[in-house]
Amino acid sequence: ASIHDAFVAAGKTYFGVATDQGLLQRESNAAIIQANFGQVTGENSMKWGSLESTQGSYNWGPADFLADWAVENGKEIRGHTLIWHSQLPGWVENIGDAETLREAIRNHVATVMGRYKGKIFHWDVVNEILNEDGTLRDSVFSRLLGEEFVQIAFEAAREADPDAILYINDYNLDQANYGKVNGMVSLVTKWVEAGVPIDGIGTQTHISEGMGANVHGALEQLASAPVNEVAITELDIRNSPVEDYTAVVQACLDVEKCTGITVWGVSDKDSWRQGDNPLLFDGSFAPKDAYNAIIEQL
Ligand code: XIL
Repeated sequence: ASIHDAFVAAGKTYFGVATDQGLLQRESNAAIIQANFGQVTGENSMKWGSLESTQGSYNWGPADFLADWAVENGKEIRGHTLIWHSQLPGWVENIGDAETLREAIRNHVATVMGRYKGKIFHWDVVNEILNEDGTLRDSVFSRLLGEEFVQIAFEAAREADPDAILYINDYNLDQANYGKVNGMVSLVTKWVEAGVPIDGIGTQTHISEGMGANVHGALEQLASAPVNEVAITELDIRNSPVEDYTAVVQACLDVEKCTGITVWGVSDKDSWRQGDNPLLFDGSFAPKDAYNAIIEQL
């Protein structure tokens, strides 16, 4: 059984997973992804800090490996992520004036998206730019440019690959009528109405037990923004309860604009949430109850 194939048969676009070169070359990761998933997201390889920790000197190896692997294996790719305050090179954080930062953003977006043009169908253009109350997070980007950096990044992205679907992505968008969800919807509405080319809102969905039931409401509210699609982009659930996983999958099935789900890793042993056992395969790469429940559900 393939979760991706079953999800596509149910009308969605993909069921994907985060991975990277080191994982793909280890144990059963590649085989499990080949058999179960239809899309890969670079867990780290396409972040600015991974690609250009020294200005002008690019480390393309791991990102190219992922892109080549995906193409060879017939998997779509979500590009993650262009503009983020974290895993950001020191030289960017230390930029001191607005015009230098505008140029750095434009150049970064054009260079990275240009390299993978036609291969990457979705890009997380901006990531985690909001506070919990829905205001703009403090970062070098907001300090020097205010909201303008969002427009600069999305316009550069549209120009670099007009066929790519452009996302704004964030975490803690897990329940309706929460400050960050309200802020996301009103800011995206304002930006889209002002002509900023945002196509989708990604909700990371790093959640705990019991929170799955709220995801439907959150997705509905995010989908009320004037975007073509929403997606669950980094799903993992502490202790992976069956009810929470199936509620999240059902929420995406039921919300028309929800295009796909990405889980944030294959095996619990490699999860960034060490000790939480939040994924669909255990430390020995055996499918867990949540995996079997989703296959049954679909
Ligand atoms: C995480 C990776 O999983 C870790 O390997 C890395 O050390 C830190 O970043 N939100 C995001 C992802 O958008 O990029 C983060 O990924 C998890 C939280």
